[in-house]
Amino acid sequence: MEKKNQSEGMKRRDFIQTSAVFAASAMFLTLSGTKVFGALNPTQKGNLIPTIKLNNGIPMPMVGFGTNTLNGAICERSVSDAISVGYRLIDTAKVYGNEEFVGAGIKQSGIKREELFITSKLWVDDSGYENAKKAFETTLNKLGLEYLDLYLIHRPRGDVKGSWMAMEELCKEGKIRAIGVSNFEPGQLDDLMADAKIKPAINQIETHVFFQEHKSYEALKKVKVQMEAWSPFAAGRNGIFSNQTLAGIGKKHNKSIAQVCLRWNHQRGIVVIPRSTQKAHMIENLGIFDFELDKSDMQTIATLDLNKTQFPEWG
Ligand SMILES: NC(=O)c1ccc[n+]([C@@H]2O[C@H](COP(=O)([O-])OP(=O)(O)OC[C@H]3O[C@@H](n4cnc5c(N)ncnc54)[C@H](OP(=O)(O)O)[C@@H]3O)[C@@H](O)[C@H]2O)c1
Repeated sequence: MEKKNQSEGMKRRDFIQTSAVFAASAMFLTLSGTKVFGALNPTQKGNLIPTIKLNNGIPMPMVGFGTNTLNGAICERSVSDAISVGYRLIDTAKVYGNEEFVGAGIKQSGIKREELFITSKLWVDDSGYENAKKAFETTLNKLGLEYLDLYLIHRPRGDVKGSWMAMEELCKEGKIRAIGVSNFEPGQLDDLMADAKIKPAINQIETHVFFQEHKSYEALKKVKVQMEAWSPFAAGRNGIFSNQTLAGIGKKHNKSIAQVCLRWNHQRGIVVIPRSTQKAHMIENLGIFDFELDKSDMQTIATLDLNKTQFPEWG
């Protein structure tokens, strides 16, 4: 896992850099009541989304846009809005039932395909070599795309190794740029890697301040598989947006609870994919690169860990 950021001297070409991002930044500064003039300088902090290099050398934006529960016109508009304010990584899955609306939102954005990083996931009903190949083609067709940047096994169920073999072939054929998994425990990942020809690039798991996943964090670091956090706000559960500890840390840095939550994962080198239907929130969620949580903030956030899922119904 190779993390680069501005303070480490990241080169401009390593950023997802578009005029839309500058516009987003300007809007953010307007929203937070700061003067916009001078804010559009690309060398300034806070304007750009850093990337992280996956173990196959492909750069992935460290903040993306989640689409679970979004559907129909709201999904299409939200994806298009997210891209317009600067998001380039979009996360969907067959089981969300929204791939065609995500695809429509991508098309509506008018942004070139090669500037985007699109993720989808293979659902458990489609596990196994033949099924996975078919499911992948359906996903591509629904999205209206010719390739995916990242394709994940959604859950460690069914014929995982058969699915992986199909995904490895699709990767070699150039139809997927990186393959990975989601919701795998460290032992399940080791088992897959024992026979894999292509090492998983990603494990996307539930990670937020109430479920910090220290065990997976250490295990993934060791095997150089990038960790990606789903539900970085615990989907609003457990009163996250009114948590007084997080509010206090936010106040200290002049940032919101949402920004503290995302920055906490970002500082641990974890990719985050927050979801929102509100443009103001989408912009706010990109405003995490111009401040740093200090040691005491990180120690305080560590005390919020409940070490259990906030989504027991998905167990
Ligand atoms: N691999 C898996 O098994 C798996 C499972 C779950 C999720 N995921 C992925 O992870 C993504 C994110 O997780 P999630 O959708 O469960 O939820 P989430 O991103 O943790 O939280 C979304 C909620 O936070 C609110 N929100 C967003 N920004 C905010 C802000 N700045 N201030 C206040 N509220 C804010 C949103 O409301 P507004 O719309 O009002 O902003 C929404 O209610 C999913 O969309 C999906 O792509 C993957």
